[in-house]
Amino acid sequence: MAQPSHMHNTFSKAQLRELYDETAPGYAQAEWVLNYLIGLHGLRRRLFQQAAGRVLDVAAGTGANLPYLSADCQVTAVDLSPGMLAKAEEKAHKLGVQLEARLMDAEALAFPDGTFQTVISTLSTCTFPDPVRALQEMARVCQSNGRILLLEHGRSSWPLFGRYQDRRAQAHYERAGCRWTQEPQELAAAAGLRITRATRHRAGVFHVIEARP
Ligand SMILES: C[S@@+](CC[C@H](N)C(=O)[O-])C[C@H]1O[C@@H](n2cnc3c(N)ncnc32)[C@H](O)[C@@H]1O
Repeated sequence: MAQPSHMHNTFSKAQLRELYDETAPGYAQAEWVLNYLIGLHGLRRRLFQQAAGRVLDVAAGTGANLPYLSADCQVTAVDLSPGMLAKAEEKAHKLGVQLEARLMDAEALAFPDGTFQTVISTLSTCTFPDPVRALQEMARVCQSNGRILLLEHGRSSWPLFGRYQDRRAQAHYERAGCRWTQEPQELAAAAGLRITRATRHRAGVFHVIEARP
């Protein structure tokens, strides 16, 4: 079950934009907790060593992935929220990296087929109203010999924690716009991505997925 069937999308894209515009000023704290307390720093570092060439970061938020991309990459970041993207531009400026930041819906990417050598996305599919559509878009804009690199989260493989997430799923979604009991590998497979490597981390909540379009 890629998407929990008992859950319904109640957030429109306009509401998601508003939610993340409000979140943007304080998101650096969440980013720090995720990277250094939960340990996503190491996962991002290892995963994005493989990013090369023209790179698209889908739902890039405040640019959490920018520090992990090699200076040789030409990076484009897209997101629905102007507030989050403005922070990404600030981060790029501080890091001294060139960034093309564009307001865009992940489910309708305004790029021709095969534009990017690498497409990356992190902690995003839980929020997209139609995550399979967004993953298909990532595959479409990725070159046929390119890579899609994802760091996502879902239902824990630890039974007790998984059941806790089930009980709180609707309340969590209504508060944060995040479906935390989704199954990211199943979503990627449903979108037709060819998964070449997938690993789970931190109580099986976080998924590192390497795929080909
Ligand atoms: C939890 S944040 C993750 C941000 C970043 N990737 C990270 O790892 O910190 C989710 C991001 O998805 C963006 N988002 C949600 N729905 C979107 C959509 N349909 N198209 C583009 N971005 C979207 C939000 O604005 C937000 O910046």
